[in-house]
Amino acid sequence: MNCRFVFGDGEAFEVPAMPGETLLGAAERAGGAPLADCREGTCQSCRGRVNRGAVAYAARHDRLLSLAPLAPDEVLCCIAEPGADEVEIAFDYPRAAVRPVRKMVLEVLEIVPVAGRVVVLRGAIRGRFKLAFTPGQYLEVAIPGTDSRRSYSLANAASTPGEVELHIRLVPGGVMSDYVAHRAKAGDLVDVRGPLGAFHLRRQPAHRIFVTGGTGLAPIMSMLRELVAQGDTAGPVTLFHGVTTREDLYGLDELRTLLSRFSDRALHLAMQDADAAWTETQGRVTDLPLDRVLRSARSDATDVYVCGPPGMIHAVRSTAAAIGLRAERVYSEAFVAAGATGA
Ligand SMILES: Cc1cc2nc3c(=O)[nH]c(=O)nc-3n(C[C@H](O)[C@H](O)[C@H](O)COP(=O)(O)OP(=O)(O)OC[C@H]3O[C@@H](n4cnc5c(N)ncnc54)[C@H](O)[C@@H]3O)c2cc1C
Ligand code: FES
Repeated sequence: MNCRFVFGDGEAFEVPAMPGETLLGAAERAGGAPLADCREGTCQSCRGRVNRGAVAYAARHDRLLSLAPLAPDEVLCCIAEPGADEVEIAFDYPRAAVRPVRKMVLEVLEIVPVAGRVVVLRGAIRGRFKLAFTPGQYLEVAIPGTDSRRSYSLANAASTPGEVELHIRLVPGGVMSDYVAHRAKAGDLVDVRGPLGAFHLRRQPAHRIFVTGGTGLAPIMSMLRELVAQGDTAGPVTLFHGVTTREDLYGLDELRTLLSRFSDRALHLAMQDADAAWTETQGRVTDLPLDRVLRSARSDATDVYVCGPPGMIHAVRSTAAAIGLRAERVYSEAFVAAGATGA
């Protein structure tokens, strides 16, 4: 069975699949792998479109596929096998977006509390590798003094290679939370791996709609900073941002400054447990008028980027689907807690 893989910039390669081999396995053997993270069908990083032929899944994946928000012509390459002699799979990103994942050392420069339970970690990559990433991607961080690793989205613009800014929500009893709240100090050297993830800024002209919860703002901050740095500010931008309490609210001044650089922009804010001083919407981010904005936007020229807890992402995907927005125009990153499963 012959597999052909085509990227958004027209680059392509072919490889014959071995018996029982997944599409991702075949692509990796040929040295031209698409984006992939979990390799078990949950993260959707390896999602592609079947241009030609057919694909097949083992029966053990039935339940997982029933939950996955896939369009009929979409495929998860990490669990699908070729189901025809000739198969062509297309990815909407350029081949250059697949960057090598490297192990690097991050020097902590400062830890800054920015809200009651959010800290910003700023650092710099040391050593011979520079960190090249696409806004939206994340790093895996080895927590000093432990055997644990956690994932954090890069919040800085990609045009500042070598710099790292992470927005970390403190959770009670959390391994990373304990490190950044009590032990981390300037000069610490931390092992990291990256860049990881298929959640990234698309360069196609579109109304960009961002939906974020809490520190789900981090990768969107990276995207906005990058768009402003590149002067890509002509298209409309709408940001819906929700937090649980004021303790999770940070970055508003910079957000407003960044958004002010776009000629057509809107910011909608929600706080679930709002205090008396809160003048914006009281409720969840899903209580904001996303459906109204989606209805008035052109569905063939709208990209929705969602980042935060899995429940929020599911709700936004359902709203977008009900309005008729194609699933592949909704890009998401779920902040799944370590050891948890789900979308
Ligand atoms: C791809 C990816 C990117 C991520 N990016 C970010 C990011 O940019 N910023 C960020 O803050 N987090 C991000 N996360 C989540 C992050 O990786 C950790 O799961 C989170 O910071 C908790 O780590 P911890 O070690 O402090 O807590 P843990 O030791 O993992 O958990 C301690 C306890 O808290 C619970 N818990 C964990 N997370 C939460 C939560 N959000 N709310 C309530 N209870 C919780 C756990 O179930 C456990 O009982 C990301 C996750 C993924 C998968
Ligand atoms: S790598 Fe295929 S779904 Fe995660």
